[in-house]
Order: sequence, then C-alpha cells, then structure tokens
Amino acid sequence: MHLYLIGYRGSGKSTVGRQLASVLDMPFVDTDDWIEASSGARISEIFASEGESGFRDREEAAIAHVADIATSTVIATGGGAILRPGNRNRIAATGHRIWLSGTAKMLFERISGDGMTSTRRPNLSHRGGYEEVVEILASREPLYRELAQLIVETDNKSADEVLDEVLDWLRTHSPG
Ligand code: S3P
Repeated sequence: MHLYLIGYRGSGKSTVGRQLASVLDMPFVDTDDWIEASSGARISEIFASEGESGFRDREEAAIAHVADIATSTVIATGGGAILRPGNRNRIAATGHRIWLSGTAKMLFERISGDGMTSTRRPNLSHRGGYEEVVEILASREPLYRELAQLIVETDNKSADEVLDEVLDWLRTHSPG
C-alpha cells in the first residue's frame, strides 16, 4: 500500500511527505516533479501551452504511473489530483489517504511565501489571490473529505507536529 498525501496547495504535502518517507524508509514521489520531469516543462508552461485540461491529462498519467509502482511509496499529489473520479478511484485502490487540511487564510499565506509558486502554481481561476483559494478550496473540500482516511488540521502546526500525527495514526493503521 502506498501512502498518499492529498490537500490544497500550501498544505505541506511535499515537505511532510519527504520527512515521512525518510522516517519510514520508503521511497518518495511528488507527482508535480514527475510531471515536470516526464514532460520537460514547468507546470506553469504546461498550463500556458496546453491549458488546465492538458495539465490534468498529464496529472492523470502521473497518478496512473505512481499507483502502479510495485514498492510501497509515499506520494505527494498535486492539489487538484482529486478532481477526476478516475484518479480518486486509483488512489483509493492503491493506498492510504491522508488529507493535510487548512484554512484558506493559512494556505494563502503559505502559498504566497513559497518560492515554488511562480513556476508551479498558475492561477486556477480568473480571480487569483486569496479569493481564488476561498472559492476553489470550498469546491474541493468535499472531495478531499470523501477520499481521506485521516484528516490532519495543519493550521499553526509545524511540519514536525503534522508528521507526528501521521506517524501516530500509522501505528494503528499500518501500511502494507
Ligand atoms: C494544483 C496544485 C499544484 C500543481 C498545479 C495545480 C491545483 O500542486 O499540481 O499547479 O490544482 O491545486 P501543489 O498542490 O503541490 O501546489
């Protein structure tokens, strides 16, 4: 069984995922990294040349790829990976699902302060900014909730604190 980290941009999936993989001695894959490596383009460039739907097709291929990895792997997914039902089914069939949740206010602060945002996080609506986070987060929250087996609220928590909550849960829901 894989360990999938799901959640909105800025929720800490990549940071916590990397730490989790290191503590559990498991491989780590970030689907955004995989998409950039396999396409030879930055995510912002893919959005610009192929539109969001072209990016979602590449993301679906990334999820299919990681789901098929034979070794149990920690997988940080992009914030929108839960949008397509096919992705949700693959994820549910192949691993444990941990939702790193947060308020729009905190997520927006983290996104704004993250140097990766300009290449990795093109606008998802005409609004952009805080209003976009409020709007898109509200539309996605039911999907994160439906898929998650564990929900970790990340507001005002360090990555180490989030990691500890995940590890505590895993002790009783051991992967594999
Ligand atoms: C997206 C989130 C990004 C990246 C792309 C689309 C989204 O990943 O996949 O910009 O739709 O929320 P992170 O959640 O890792 O920032």
